Amino acid sequence: MKLPDFLEQDRVAVDQALDRLLPPATTPPETIHQAMRYSVMAGGKRIRPALCLETARLFDPDPRGAMEVACALEFIHTYSLIHDDLPALDNDDLRRGQPTCHKKFGEAMAILAGDGLLTFAFETLAKAPIEDSRRVRAIAEIAAAAGTVSGMVGGQVADVEAEGKPVNAAMLEYIHQSKTAALIRASCAAGALAAGAADDDVARIRRFGGKIGWAFQIVDDILDVEESSAALGKTAGKDQQQHKATYPALYGLEESGRKAAQLVTEAIDELAPYADRAERLRELARFQTRRRA
Ligand code: IPE
Ligand code: IPE
Ligand code: MG
Ligand code: MG
Ligand code: MG
Repeated sequence: MKLPDFLEQDRVAVDQALDRLLPPATTPPETIHQAMRYSVMAGGKRIRPALCLETARLFDPDPRGAMEVACALEFIHTYSLIHDDLPALDNDDLRRGQPTCHKKFGEAMAILAGDGLLTFAFETLAKAPIEDSRRVRAIAEIAAAAGTVSGMVGGQVADVEAEGKPVNAAMLEYIHQSKTAALIRASCAAGALAAGAADDDVARIRRFGGKIGWAFQIVDDILDVEESSAALGKTAGKDQQQHKATYPALYGLEESGRKAAQLVTEAIDELAPYADRAERLRELARFQTRRRA
């Protein structure tokens, strides 16, 4: 998929940093380091790192430590994908255009690779060259977003428990806000925190990220219906097959598209005080409804 030019530049820089930070595949026990590297380096749009880096740059043109935060977010995100694909959850064979981690390394190693990435994310954050109090706030923000109380794990619990049941609007919003929007919101807020943004700015950026994150999962649901497995690099049509709680299932494709577009507009409105400085973030926001994978 063609990414906007600056996003492609961020992606290349993030890929290099991920490779530099991850333990080498030859480090014992080799199997887990191979599995962690296999899933992280398989590709991916690196949207969360890009949001982190671009929000950081809004407040500091050369934000020290933001790349470490960006990589930690990608480690957590990749762990969530490895576990999401496990037979006990979505039972997927294809991810980022390759066999899923458990297909390649077995279930035990995929569970452990997820555990390893989550833990390594927090080691990376703890060592990031950011002033102590800001680093601690970024860690708290990300930990809460990945957790059980309206965070990613909580959202995954609700997603699994909602399977095959009638979808209700409040529950659907809770699932999307928690399983996906929370980490995207934290990616934006942590970038702002790392760059030393004032509290009002962090709060504004958090609102921006929450709206982008919600739109992101609505678009993910739409693409599951509209695109092919080849285009997505993951199995298409799975949500309907598994009777998942999705926006298209409750509202239909058209209304879902309108909802995502509305959220992107509201997100962009939050950026008004930053005028031209926020152009890359606006572009990232608009990309959410343009992307086809
Ligand atoms: C997929 O995330 C899972 C969701 C939370 C919707 P991405 O669409 O960001 O997946 P990659 O990182 O590009 O593979
Ligand atoms: C996953 O949602 C959200 C996560 C926290 C991983 P999905 O189950 O819709 O993600 P895909 O479609 O498998 O990437
Ligand atoms: Mg899932
Ligand atoms: Mg899934
Ligand atoms: Mg999906």
